[in-house]
Amino acid sequence: MADRHFDELATRFAEKIYGGAKGAIRLAVLQADLAEALPERPLRVLDIGAGLGHMALWLAERGHQVTLAEPAAPMLEGARQRFTEAGRAATFIEAPWQELLGRLDEPYDLVLCHAVLEWLAEPQAILPVLHQLTARDGWLSLAFYNRDALIYRNLLKGHFRKLRKQRFAGEGQSLTPQQPLDPRELEAAMAASWNIEARSGVRVFHDYMPQEFQHKAEPLDLVEMELAYRRHPAFAGLGRYLHWLCRPRE
Ligand SMILES: C[S@@+](CC[C@H](N)C(=O)[O-])C[C@H]1O[C@@H](n2cnc3c(N)ncnc32)[C@H](O)[C@@H]1O
Repeated sequence: MADRHFDELATRFAEKIYGGAKGAIRLAVLQADLAEALPERPLRVLDIGAGLGHMALWLAERGHQVTLAEPAAPMLEGARQRFTEAGRAATFIEAPWQELLGRLDEPYDLVLCHAVLEWLAEPQAILPVLHQLTARDGWLSLAFYNRDALIYRNLLKGHFRKLRKQRFAGEGQSLTPQQPLDPRELEAAMAASWNIEARSGVRVFHDYMPQEFQHKAEPLDLVEMELAYRRHPAFAGLGRYLHWLCRPRE
């Protein structure tokens, strides 16, 4: 298995996701979590696997100095266009995470790694690099595809054979991630080097709603309710993605 750099097909798919409620909820949760935790001063930000640059642009518009690293040329081009249209400047690096330590020489106040781990051949291998790239008093904003949510969806759909075989990963050109992450395994792997200071679920109920109710609901109401319940102890762990805001341990 290799890391899945996004090609033309995946780029179009990602554009589509951000056009609907799913993308709106994702951005709203990530932005609310960051807005709550970050200081007012301008930060140096590195977005690893930045994709089409939605979060990077939001941060640039708030006065932060952002660098986008992304190995897939069509994704990075999409991000560049988005910045040009918004009249914002950024640094764009066409590279996978494996090349970043060799190309960057100073740690960043804020490192974003959103929806990337699940596309990697070895998701945990990136962790020490994230640590080196994050300033000692900085933040890591980590969002990943939650294996628990996938299990729960399969339970709800009665896909028991899949569950017995523990077959959750997407294969080949599938746009289901190849490595959904077990949050407890990930937390154990991070325990020595990181404090996880805030945790939210991204889409804790939207994706489980029957379609007729999904379509009937107002997008603004969906976002409001997802924000309200993103940390509810019974629902947060059901988020399709989990968002953890982490700080390096001393
Ligand atoms: C689902 S997209 C997420 C994009 C963006 N972070 C977001 O949240 O919208 C996953 C991204 O990870 C990138 N990716 C895959 N392998 C990578 C690697 N080895 N290093 C950095 N990024 C990688 C893909 O090209 C793709 O753009």
